[in-house]
Parts: sequence; structure tokens; C-alpha cells
Amino acid sequence: MKQLLLVMDFGGQYKELIASTVRGLSVYSEIHPNTLSAEEIRKMNPIGIIMTGGPNSVHCAASQSCDPEIFKLGIPILGICYGMQIMCHSLGGTIETMDTAEYGQVSVTPKSGSDLLYVQPFTALMNHRDAVTKLPETFTATAYTDNCIAACEDKQRKLYGVQFHPETKHTQGGMQLIKSFLYDICGAKGDYKLDDYIDTQIKEIQAKVGDKRVLLALSGGVDSSVCASLLSKAIPGQLTCIFVDHGFMRKSEGDQIEEIFSKRDLQFIRVNAQERFLNKLAGIRDPEAKRKGIGEEFIRVFEEESKNLGDIPFLAQGTIYPDIVESGGEHGATIKSHHNVGGLPKDLGFTGLVEPLSGLFKNEVRELGRKLGLPDYLVNRQPFPGPGLAVRVIGEITFEKLEILRHADAIFREELDALENPPSQYFAIITDTLSVGIKGDDRTYSPVIALRAVITDDFMTADWATLPHELLARVSSRITAEIASVSRVVYDITAKPPGTVEWE
Ligand code: XMP
Repeated sequence: MKQLLLVMDFGGQYKELIASTVRGLSVYSEIHPNTLSAEEIRKMNPIGIIMTGGPNSVHCAASQSCDPEIFKLGIPILGICYGMQIMCHSLGGTIETMDTAEYGQVSVTPKSGSDLLYVQPFTALMNHRDAVTKLPETFTATAYTDNCIAACEDKQRKLYGVQFHPETKHTQGGMQLIKSFLYDICGAKGDYKLDDYIDTQIKEIQAKVGDKRVLLALSGGVDSSVCASLLSKAIPGQLTCIFVDHGFMRKSEGDQIEEIFSKRDLQFIRVNAQERFLNKLAGIRDPEAKRKGIGEEFIRVFEEESKNLGDIPFLAQGTIYPDIVESGGEHGATIKSHHNVGGLPKDLGFTGLVEPLSGLFKNEVRELGRKLGLPDYLVNRQPFPGPGLAVRVIGEITFEKLEILRHADAIFREELDALENPPSQYFAIITDTLSVGIKGDDRTYSPVIALRAVITDDFMTADWATLPHELLARVSSRITAEIASVSRVVYDITAKPPGTVEWE
């Protein structure tokens, strides 16, 4: 039996980061709600528990508590932020709201004798207003900031608390702390390997599908591409992929997808539906109406194509573990929206659903893709909205605007791809504003191109990237020189919030 590390979710934004960090350290992890009883946990037999942060105060009515019997199970526990507070609160400590909240990187000074911390001071990411002001009797403080107890432990019972977030890269030595907890305290053996996941999945897929056929809507994104590759390995010749090319892909993207998948052991169908989608969207300017129109058209095309294929009982989807965690664990019954392009309706007539990536985090899906021989540019792909460039053409969508955008976007991405540390996401937008310019001796009146580059960990919040001026200058010169109908380029300097990453 593989060892399990249980991540107990108290509503914090970093639960997935914690669980995937643990897996990255070769220990299998699962995320479960804070409502698990001690008895349920005992049956799961984890080697340790990490309690996550959470948005509430232990004193407010909406606060998330946990079964206090959990602390008597003899299983090592690491409480992070709210996790430390709820542990101390449950065991008789005092939690109070501080006069000064701590947000951002804060200096932490450890005491000697800790199981988890080295003695040197370090900086750590803090994000709290409440703090533990009196520890439960059996605990000792092992580190302080200027304002609060930063870490504590009860060695006897193997209970540990840290007020800071060791799971983020903004905490010095955070990864080492989690590793020490897993290996020194919980006795981890490091028995989780992605190769085992592949072997198990292949057997499960074969057992479920038998000699029947499987249909997959392939978008060319990381998840559906890796899903297609894994299925073609597990059930060669039984998979049919429908790639609906709606015409809103980036430069050369549709051809690249065809090039990769037409060589695999599967039936690859590319539906060139650009005209259909452009006709459907003609005259539409409202962003939501665009998304809805694309979603509806996608379903219609997919249905039409799948009707021509005869009896295919199984539908495959590239659902990944965070999708399941986000939906409260109730997956499988509902068909995931196809990259938010509308969502496939439930009555498509499939008798079974195959979701071979549903146990994996995004970084693991990428690694799996590499192992299955997919090219780096595909597995490392930045997020790309399901409606594609349609939400980056502001105002009415026309083929000409799309072509200008594809060209400008390719130039911008090519220049940024060459950076040693590129931003998290970068792309171009074609605005609905025309501006006067001068090219040669001629006055121009043409669309303004905007460039967007953001730095983010989770895409919930983002900073605009401070790109070198000479790089921006080169991109601007290239775009205005290489695209006849563009004479003005602007750079978007808006964080999220208040802006979003996409313009529509
Ligand atoms: P926003 O614009 O909401 O974007 O700040 C956050 C991240 O989500 C991506 N995005 C989408 N992804 N379907 C997707 O699969 C969509 O409709 C969609 N809209 C935005 C966006 O590119 C960014 O990475």
C-alpha cells in the first residue's frame, strides 16, 4: 500500500499548492474537507496530516473547526496558518486578533531545539490578523516574529504549527520544512512515482473500456492533449479525437495539433469550422454573447461530427484533480465544460465517462505529457481561454482582425519566449480603437495593438510584468514594421485586481 499524506482543507487558497508540493517530494497526497471525522481518518491510515490555512477567524460563526479526536490519533500533524490556530484553539490555547496584521514577507527568528526549523532567522510569507497568544499546555514556541508566535510544537504528540506559509516560494527554507515533516516526523518512504500512476491508469482504462470505442474533444490544450496520448497508449486504435478548429487559435496552432496527433495510434478528425464560427459571431460585440455563441456552436459541431461516427459508448475528458477538488469531489456525474466553451450537454448519449487524469495536478499532467513524448512547447503551454483569440479581438470579430492579432501575438510571444524567466502569461490584444499614425509619407488610421504580460502564481491575482524597455521597443518596432496595417502599440500596466488577465 502506498503511503498517504492527508491535506485537510480549511478553505485556504494554497491547499492545492501544499498537496502538489508533497507529491513533488514523492509522497502521495489527497485533499479532503475539514469535516472528516477522526474515525474516517483512522481508516484512511495516513502517515501524516497537514491542516491548511483558511479565510476565517476561529472565533467567528462561519469558522471551520475539526473533530478534536483527530489530535488523539497519534498521527503527526502540521498546522499551517489557520491550521495552527485551529489546532491550538482545539487543545486549549488562546487565539486573539492582533493590533497589527502581518501580510507579506516577515522576518522570523527560531529558537534552538526545534524538530523542523533551523536556528538561523529567515523570512517567511505571513497572511494573518489573528495569532496564537497562549499555547496549549504541552506546546512550546519554536519561533517568533516581532508580533507573534511564528511556530510551535508538541514533540511528544508530534503536533506542529507554523503561522507562516512554508508551501510558497516566498518562505525561505519552506520546502525543506515540509520535507522534514514528511521524512523525519511522518516516516515517509518516498514511494510515490508518476510511472506507477501511468501503469495503474492504463490497466484501469483497459478494464473499463474493454474493446469499445472512446471519443474525446481535443482542444490542443495541455489536459486534453495528455489525455489523448495516454488513451492512445492504453487502448491503441480505439480512440477517436474530434478537434474543432473554430478559427480562434494562435498562429500555426491548429496545424501543430494536427501534426502531432495525426501520427498517433488514434483516429484524428479535424473539423475546419472557421467560417461557421465567424458567421455565428457576425455583428456580435458583447463579450458574454461571444462566449455563449462560441459555446453553442461548438456543441452543435461536436454533435454533428459524433453522429457520423457510429456507436461510441465512452466519452473521455481531461478533468484533472483540482477540477474535482473545486467541485467538492462530486465529479463523474457531470460533464465538465469543454474549456469553458459552453460545456457539453449531458444527453449526448454516452454510457460511460473516462477521466484518466483525474488524480493529477497540473504539473504532474505536464510531466506525464513529457513521458508520453509530447513536445515541450505543448506541455509547457500557457493557459489559453477556450474561446481563444475571440476574447482578444475587442468589438466585432472579423477574419482580418484575427489575422492581424495572430501576427502581432506571434511576434510578442517569440520575443518573450527567449527570456530566461518569462512572465506567467503573455499575449497581444487587438483593440477596437483606431488611431492616426504615419508610415512613410502616408497618414494611417488603424487598430491599436495592446500587449499584456502578467506574473502570477495562481491567476486569481496577478501583477503586470516589468519588461525591459529595449525588449518592448523591439516588439513595438517589429509589430509596426512587419504588419502593414498597425501603427500604434501600447503596453497594459494594470494589475489583477482591478483588471482581469484577459480583456474580455
Ligand atoms: P481572467 O481574465 O479571468 O483570467 O483574469 C484568468 C486566467 O484564466 C484564463 N481564462 C480562461 N481559461 N476559458 C479558459 O479555459 C476561458 O473562458 C477563460 N477566460 C480566461 C486566462 O487566460 C487567465 O490565464
